[in-house]
Amino acid sequence: MRCVFWIHLCVLLLVFITSSAPELTISSSCPSHCGNISIPYPFGIGKDCYLNDWYEIRCIHNSSVPFLTTIQKEVVRIDLPEPVNNGSHPYGLIRVKANITSMGCSGGNGHNLEEVLNFTGTPFSISEDNTLVAFGCNSKATLTNVEPSIVGCISSCDPSLELPQFLKKSSCYGGFKCCNARTPADVGRLIGVKIESAYGNETRQECNVAFLTDEYDQPSLWPNRTDSSRLHAGKYATIQLKWQVLASHPSFEESLVCGQNFDDDFYSKPCYCDVVHFVEYSYLSCACTNGYEGNPYTPNGCKDVDECKKLQDDGRRLDLCTKSGEICHNIPGSYECKPSYKALVTYIGKSSNSIYFHFLTLGEII
Ligand SMILES: *[C@@H]1O[C@H](CO)[C@@H](O)[C@H](O)[C@H]1NC(C)=O
Ligand SMILES: *[C@@H]1O[C@H](CO)[C@@H](O)[C@H](O)[C@H]1NC(C)=O
Ligand SMILES: *[C@@H]1O[C@H](CO)[C@@H](O)[C@H](O)[C@H]1NC(C)=O
Ligand SMILES: *[C@@H]1O[C@H](CO)[C@@H](O)[C@H](O)[C@H]1NC(C)=O
Ligand SMILES: *[C@@H]1O[C@H](CO)[C@@H](O)[C@H](O)[C@H]1NC(C)=O
Ligand SMILES: *[C@@H]1O[C@H](CO)[C@@H](O)[C@H](O)[C@H]1NC(C)=O
Ligand SMILES: *[C@@H]1O[C@H](CO)[C@@H](O)[C@H](O)[C@H]1NC(C)=O
Repeated sequence: MRCVFWIHLCVLLLVFITSSAPELTISSSCPSHCGNISIPYPFGIGKDCYLNDWYEIRCIHNSSVPFLTTIQKEVVRIDLPEPVNNGSHPYGLIRVKANITSMGCSGGNGHNLEEVLNFTGTPFSISEDNTLVAFGCNSKATLTNVEPSIVGCISSCDPSLELPQFLKKSSCYGGFKCCNARTPADVGRLIGVKIESAYGNETRQECNVAFLTDEYDQPSLWPNRTDSSRLHAGKYATIQLKWQVLASHPSFEESLVCGQNFDDDFYSKPCYCDVVHFVEYSYLSCACTNGYEGNPYTPNGCKDVDECKKLQDDGRRLDLCTKSGEICHNIPGSYECKPSYKALVTYIGKSSNSIYFHFLTLGEII
């Protein structure tokens, strides 16, 4: 009787110990979306749902608009890092709305000559996939804080620079009422957009706007490019930022159990992390390795991709094994092409009123 009692106590203790072990798994009660925008960890909505304050999202405007509280920006999209196949530095992408600069526009904030984006000390940096774009007449748009580079463009009112309609739809080369300039690589965490009169002798007041955006190649988003007052009324442009993890606790990094760039076999694990340590904090950037997909910032978040079940864009099965007689065989992180198994009829038997076949299988059963 006593024995049974002790066993029960032991089982109870075990249950208690295992359930109270510290875990970094995210509660399933954390919302995964705000409106229809996916919010992947380390970002999160609500207490205990985000890694630290840098990744806190508030879901505002009737729970439909995600807002990144630390940098005070509305979020349009969050992307996890792409899977890596080498030791390169992974990062995720986040698209946010940034104020546009303007000169001579009517309505609120018609004169906002410079807008600075300062992400110093944050896990966010400005992606080089943004383009400086300006609309208007004889206005000069420049990027500030990009020294030693000088980046800018002039949007002219000279009609001789106007391009044929079919070209105008896709770009603003030429400079008539619209111009653009590429962002230098490695812009870092501080950048500004400034707008001014191109020749300093303007008498005509037209609405001029300038902004950085990653939507330059999507003309469908700009229904009427020459109408700068309409762009001004929109107030914001979408800008793309890179993000990493600013982790103050090494236990987070350890909980992920990922390969690191100094390991010989980092590629053999489902995920890979690159860590840069500073005195008070470390920047952690993780990605699933090729052949895995999911969230590298959750423990066991990268799951094996079954390459054999991959579909083409048209929805048909992708034929990975083209040699005749071979079939696709999924293995962790990859796939193999193996001969399909062959069956030989070894004998045909006959029972009282039916014929039966006996098969001997050769090769591997898949
Ligand atoms: C959801 O996404 C679609 C397109 O991706 C967009 O048109 C729609 O407005 C979004 N709805 C909400 C509530 O955000
Ligand atoms: C907020 O959402 C609720 C439920 O979907 C809806 O009934 C209400 O009209 C919305 N309010 C606003 C201001 O959009
Ligand atoms: C690593 O792979 C990425 C994308 O897969 C590529 O852009 C990058 O150039 C590669 N880096 C090296 C050092 O091979
Ligand atoms: C945009 O500009 C307005 C007016 O100057 C300002 O109140 C607001 O904070 C700015 N928004 C952002 C996200 O910088
Ligand atoms: C950018 O932010 C950092 C940290 O908040 C601050 O020290 C620095 O002065 C700011 N730079 C500019 C140009 O605003
Ligand atoms: C402004 O100055 C430029 C360059 O000096 C000149 O070409 C242009 O005609 C001037 N515009 C006006 C409106 O005076
Ligand atoms: C574009 O805007 C200009 C200036 O406001 C206007 O004259 C023109 O009709 C607009 N074009 C279209 C296609 O809406």
